[in-house]
Amino acid sequence: MSGLFRKKDVNDLLAEATPLTRTLKTMDLTFLGIGAIIGTGIFVLTGKGALTAGPALSVSFLLAAVCCGFTGLCYAEFASMAPVAGSAYTYSYLAFGEIIAFIIGWDLILEYALGAATVSVGWSGYFLNLLSEMGIHIPTVLTAAAGTTPGVTTYFNLPAFLIVLVITWIISVGINQTKRVNDTMVIIKLAVIVLFIICTVWFVKPHNWVPFSPYGFYSYHAGAKAGILPAASIVFFSFIGFDSVASSAEETINPSKTLPRGILLSLLISTVLYIAMTLIMTGVVKYTVFTKYLNAPILAVLHQTGQSWLALIVSIGAILGMTTVILVQLYGQSRICYSMSRDGLFPKFFGDVSPKYKTPFKGTWFFGILTAIAGGFINLNILSELVNIGTLTAFVLVSAGIMWMRKSHPEIHRGFRAPGVPFTPIIAVIFCITLIIGLNWETWLRFIVWFAIGMVLYFVYGRKHSILNAK
Ligand code: ALA
Repeated sequence: MSGLFRKKDVNDLLAEATPLTRTLKTMDLTFLGIGAIIGTGIFVLTGKGALTAGPALSVSFLLAAVCCGFTGLCYAEFASMAPVAGSAYTYSYLAFGEIIAFIIGWDLILEYALGAATVSVGWSGYFLNLLSEMGIHIPTVLTAAAGTTPGVTTYFNLPAFLIVLVITWIISVGINQTKRVNDTMVIIKLAVIVLFIICTVWFVKPHNWVPFSPYGFYSYHAGAKAGILPAASIVFFSFIGFDSVASSAEETINPSKTLPRGILLSLLISTVLYIAMTLIMTGVVKYTVFTKYLNAPILAVLHQTGQSWLALIVSIGAILGMTTVILVQLYGQSRICYSMSRDGLFPKFFGDVSPKYKTPFKGTWFFGILTAIAGGFINLNILSELVNIGTLTAFVLVSAGIMWMRKSHPEIHRGFRAPGVPFTPIIAVIFCITLIIGLNWETWLRFIVWFAIGMVLYFVYGRKHSILNAK
């Protein structure tokens, strides 16, 4: 057992020299956050969510938002205490020790890399829709992973594969480039969502909200979990991303103030937009109609209102929206690997900072290519739930970590203190575990397999090469 729980010292961490450049401010981080948050969750998973919870989907969003809000406060405190790259991974290295840190890092790979792959599939759905509106068709076999649509032969999702490669290139050549591309797309995404809300709110028919919660809080319908909680466990995916803001600590100016503001602001803006959108969506069409629109549920609303001009604009907004999500997820991924490699838990290759671009160039490309391949073969629903369970587990450990750090290291300066400790982290943990319970058992099983692979890697490589060995 010895050494499994060896910890990093926060002062050592802060003293570690960083070759990354500090350029990001509060607004940049908020944009980075919104860029990471609003995407496939609202544009694609709302269809499945509405079928699972009915109009009460908005309550599911609220539940997931509350969970993320409480966890966000804990993230913000950690980020202000240890503003270095690596986010939850680094925090748990301080609070719990190496093996837990490795587990979290491994979970974050699930969140970011597989998350980006999942979003690339959602992106591909809207992109193919747009192409076909323009009369362009690519061979069906290259439009989706094998077995995606019963009765249709498909092998590979080419658009998903290509978009990940393009974004990998953008990230690998530097943060300024990334920020500029991200900011522009986030502005367009927000504008399109506001336009959608303004144009469709007038078509809401309150009788569509009745019954509001056809499956209650938690039940079984057609052999699957249904109700507000299982839907919250699905749409939790919509909020994933705010935590990646914390991963950019080493590139942030005055991180102890800027990071918490960026995290909470991006979460708040997204929550308000989601609740407005889901109330409108389930108010304009009967929730059962989404069965026919699982790939692009927003279009169900616009077909109902007859605003096909808006469908085109919203499709473009969705495509751009999902592009920024992939961008920030891949960015977070490369920075986690950078941190893990710097600590010796991953090979040096992932931490090599390119002298030309000042980014972990090789690691970014390595995972970019793997993510692109995964995007080509992925099943969106299965993977989004796998991403959710990995993220929720990381959230549990971050929240518990805050309680532990307050007790064990009260002396460490915190630029931001989460209010209401210990209640805030306790509530966060309860919400996260509740959302894990809402996921189906197949997802739990897949996660256990992922976890086991991670443990093999740790004991075969990480444990021996950890830089803490030398101390
Ligand atoms: N929150 C991100 C999305 O919904 C992952 O696409």
